[in-house]
Amino acid sequence: MKDVLKELERRREIARMGGGKARIDAQHARGKLTARERIDIFLDQGSFEEFDMFVEHRSTDFGMEKQKVAGDGVVTGWGTVNGRTVFLFAKDFTVFGGSLSEAHAEKIQKIQDMALRNRAPIIGIYDAGGARIQEGVAALGGYAEVFQRNVLASGVIPQISVIMGPCAGGDVYSPAMTDFIFMVRDTSYMFVTGPDVVKTVTNETVTAEQLGGASVHTTKSSIADGAYDNDVEALLQMRRLVDFLPASNTADIPEIACAQTVDDHDPSLDRLVPDNANKPYDIRELILKTADEGDFFEIQQSFARNIVTGFGRVEGRTTGFVANQPMVLAGVLDSDASRKAARFVRFCDCFNIPLVTFVDVPGFLPGTSQEYGGLIKHGAKLLFAYAEATVPKVTVITRKAFGGAYDVMASKHLRGDVNYAWPTAQIAVMGAKGAVEIIYRKDIGDADKIAAHTKAYEDRFLSPFVAAERGYVDEVIMPHSTRRRVARALRMLRNKDLQNPWKKHDNIPL
Ligand code: HXC
Repeated sequence: MKDVLKELERRREIARMGGGKARIDAQHARGKLTARERIDIFLDQGSFEEFDMFVEHRSTDFGMEKQKVAGDGVVTGWGTVNGRTVFLFAKDFTVFGGSLSEAHAEKIQKIQDMALRNRAPIIGIYDAGGARIQEGVAALGGYAEVFQRNVLASGVIPQISVIMGPCAGGDVYSPAMTDFIFMVRDTSYMFVTGPDVVKTVTNETVTAEQLGGASVHTTKSSIADGAYDNDVEALLQMRRLVDFLPASNTADIPEIACAQTVDDHDPSLDRLVPDNANKPYDIRELILKTADEGDFFEIQQSFARNIVTGFGRVEGRTTGFVANQPMVLAGVLDSDASRKAARFVRFCDCFNIPLVTFVDVPGFLPGTSQEYGGLIKHGAKLLFAYAEATVPKVTVITRKAFGGAYDVMASKHLRGDVNYAWPTAQIAVMGAKGAVEIIYRKDIGDADKIAAHTKAYEDRFLSPFVAAERGYVDEVIMPHSTRRRVARALRMLRNKDLQNPWKKHDNIPL
């Protein structure tokens, strides 16, 4: 028996060494951790239960029958994050560059099936060279099996992808169908075809970093939801993200003990909105002062910064925050901001996370570049997302809510549950200058008349009261009481029960 146990330990030791010491050293020399080291940091200590450690590929082409490595380039299993179950797979770059074979794909599929069956989040850690070139169509089939499972799990369990090295070819599409993608700066990149193919086909010369590095995907393409400086920071932040997420679409949202009362007033909020309506202020301050202990996990911080999205907690319970940001483009809604917020709203709605929306929006961004780029369709995504969402929706208008953007931003008419306005709110079809220039065009040369018309328009419409008179805002509230008002509203809405008509699925404008 002793020998049998020893043999098991020997085989485990070999498997744990992956592609061997030299390749592990090379991985470290590039500033990257190995798959197993990453898992150790991400999961609670000692909680990892590995599956399929001894799986090998079945390829016999190109001398592959002589090159077998236990595990076949991916480490899979489950464990816990702060006590809550998660499933995961981590590509092992030291084994065939983490490339995907039929057997490698089957390991991932097994974990995907288990995560879905047991209703727990799944995390994929990527550091890989795409399809195993020696396997041909078996690898392509393996990818498609993984993609199919991504789609079936979408909206049922949270799926997170963390890119910590190369991620190219077939490897990019599974992350693309998960809920969130995070990257590591300088060591990770994602693209469908690499710099060499780009050079051949388009004659462009680019580096891997320029083509698909973290800065490209967090600021330009919006493929990635965030980036971190190194593997350790990224993995610790992923633990933090998992803490915010429910295990599935039927699980309760996480609730943690919160020491901070919601009853204290915050007088600084009474001074947040400047006297001059054209002056910006940082809407993040309001989010941080509404969320428990100022703890806010921002999603897509570097993309479409005119809208802020992310997770916080109110009275210990996960809450999704969406807020126009007056500091960037005056908080206007453009195509990018609409797409970014729409996706976030839909994630929250999938997983029963209530939405708190802070509104200060001058409208949709005019111009040919926006219209040619499909602003109508992209703006409609956010409108659609808010309108279909059945989770609790609490809205606070802090200043401008003009035009179509007023409707879009979780207005009462889109089944907003509790809609508040600060006394500084201005709810109207448009700002005073634009309005007067249209309805009093004949007086444009007469400065006194225009000033009088502008004053009259401001007095009548640039306040919350016309909307409040119609019940479009439920109450005009003191800014200093916002956290208490939002918390009480969310508490009241905990048992909200609202269903949309039966359908196979909707047809959101894509
Ligand atoms: C088999 C691979 C491999 C692959 C890398 N390796 N990619 N083995 N299949 N796809 C092996 C290498 O042979 C090498 O083995 C080891 O992994 C490390 O690779 P290096 O090239 O030495 O590392 P590096 O210089 O860091 O370059 C990493 C890389 C490069 C950029 C990922 O390896 C690369 O370009 N690989 C090929 C990428 C690719 O074209 N994949 C196919 C995409 S098509 P040794 O033994 O020397 O250590 C695709 C289609 C699917 O995925 C579509 C489905 C929808």
